[in-house]
Amino acid sequence: VVKPKVKWLGTPINDLKRMPECGGLLPPLRNVPGQHTVMIQTDLLESGNVSVAYPAKFKDTWDDVHVKMPCSSWNLFPVQDEVMVQLSVKEKLIRTFANAILKYSNSQAKKWDFTALRLYCTKVLDPDDAEHLFGSLLPDMVQLALRASELCTKPIPLLKRGMNHSITMSQEQVACLLANAFFCTFPRRNSRRNEYGNYPDINFFRLFEGSSPKKIEKLKTLMCYFKSVTEQKPSGLVTFTRKSLDKPLNWKSSQTRLTKLHITCEGTIEDDGYGMLQVDFANKFVGGGVTSSGLVQEEIRFLINPELIVSRLFTEALDHNECVIITGTQQYSTYTGYAQTYQWDGSHQDTTPRDGWQRRCTEIVAIDALQFKNFLEQFKPEKLNRELNKAYCGFARSEQRSQHLAAVATGNWGCGVFGGDARLKALLQMLAAAEAGRDVAYFTFGDSQLMTDVHEMHSFLTESEIGVGEVYDLLRQYNSSVCRSCLSRRPDVSLYSFIYQQVSSSLAPDDSDGGSARH
Ligand code: AR6
Repeated sequence: VVKPKVKWLGTPINDLKRMPECGGLLPPLRNVPGQHTVMIQTDLLESGNVSVAYPAKFKDTWDDVHVKMPCSSWNLFPVQDEVMVQLSVKEKLIRTFANAILKYSNSQAKKWDFTALRLYCTKVLDPDDAEHLFGSLLPDMVQLALRASELCTKPIPLLKRGMNHSITMSQEQVACLLANAFFCTFPRRNSRRNEYGNYPDINFFRLFEGSSPKKIEKLKTLMCYFKSVTEQKPSGLVTFTRKSLDKPLNWKSSQTRLTKLHITCEGTIEDDGYGMLQVDFANKFVGGGVTSSGLVQEEIRFLINPELIVSRLFTEALDHNECVIITGTQQYSTYTGYAQTYQWDGSHQDTTPRDGWQRRCTEIVAIDALQFKNFLEQFKPEKLNRELNKAYCGFARSEQRSQHLAAVATGNWGCGVFGGDARLKALLQMLAAAEAGRDVAYFTFGDSQLMTDVHEMHSFLTESEIGVGEVYDLLRQYNSSVCRSCLSRRPDVSLYSFIYQQVSSSLAPDDSDGGSARH
């Protein structure tokens, strides 16, 4: 008899909390200097009208604490020299696009390359769609980009290292900023050798270069977004919050018990973790390679929810104790495949309910894991602490009660491109989630062995009443007794076998009374 294949283990997913059902009451949305920059007129929020920019007139700033806008009067040199040239080339491209792109490529051949864009227009789109692109979509995008001084009137603060600050803007403002990013109009942002060296790229020029099929699929996904927002103005808000942990936690002394775990080898964070706190397996430059060649978990999420990309405009590289929380982005596309096999699969109607601030109840937290080239490295105490504090920073909401906190929807954070060990990372994330008072929905992305192993470990720890501090101590012991003396690339005793051994040998003398003497 063939047993039906197990798809999930632990707590049923519908027993875990999701937004909006679990949420507490939101305070009124208001601008708080030094804490929360709100770019719309908040008194209209109640009537559902979020599209009135605040202040009424464009406030022109050009300093090192705000985004330098393409529409700024200070933007003289770049406008003449590079920025507007790009825009007018694209406008020309609208009229005689093939020629214009070629011409453009000729004049800028050494710098920017439009191969992917050209392929997209000539080889991918059928003639009708190409006609629509140049006759309608690109002109609409140009118009949207040019409305920056009317739509984004308030200076946008840079979210610099160490700052705890939120920015709330309308999806329409986001669309305008992204249209500018598409046309590469943000001044001072085309080279990483200037004052923005510690920021992600925002202008899209790398998206257009090369002939990789991945670029084509990325373009399809992003054009689907621009088509949607130019045809029907989105009507909600999005909040970007940069947050740092003021002091690292004392993990060793924690008495906290593990929370619930649902683990599955099917489904994805974005589909099955709706309403939960969804983890973005981030780069310290948020969005990673989304505007260039990357195409794994983070980049895919930024492509299907392109409003996430705006975070790149103002978010300085994350420090070890920092995260970015983005609430309210909408999904515009669906996809199939992953990395090399990624394909845009059509437009998506996002029906996620909105919260009291007119934001989609989609909360995504960008936390960047450490990259490990050497497997043993990740078990060192300072690395364990770093990853624990990073995850905790992302998961904890000190201002909210645990009963109002949705589960964390996560998976193999740091275990793909970044080379971490999924069994370790699953434990670390469970500790951080427990400490933050959240349950966990873990997506193993097809790995059923991992599902079984992590579930067994979680059940074992829960049943043995082993809390956060004790697990932490076991991890430290594993490093000192196994990893430190290990001469090969991989330890000869796996982390989980070590934990089982340690716990049962510490229980052994009292085994006759069921081990209860431990506590
Ligand atoms: N849902 C659940 N699990 C997933 C999903 C998904 N949608 N997609 C992938 N996985 P990776 P990292 C699993 O490599 O190692 C980016 O360039 C899958 O098992 O994206 O933290 C960033 O910008 C996959 O192998 O995350 C960083 O530069 C694993 O998650 C860098 O990659 C890890 O996905 C971060 O690399």
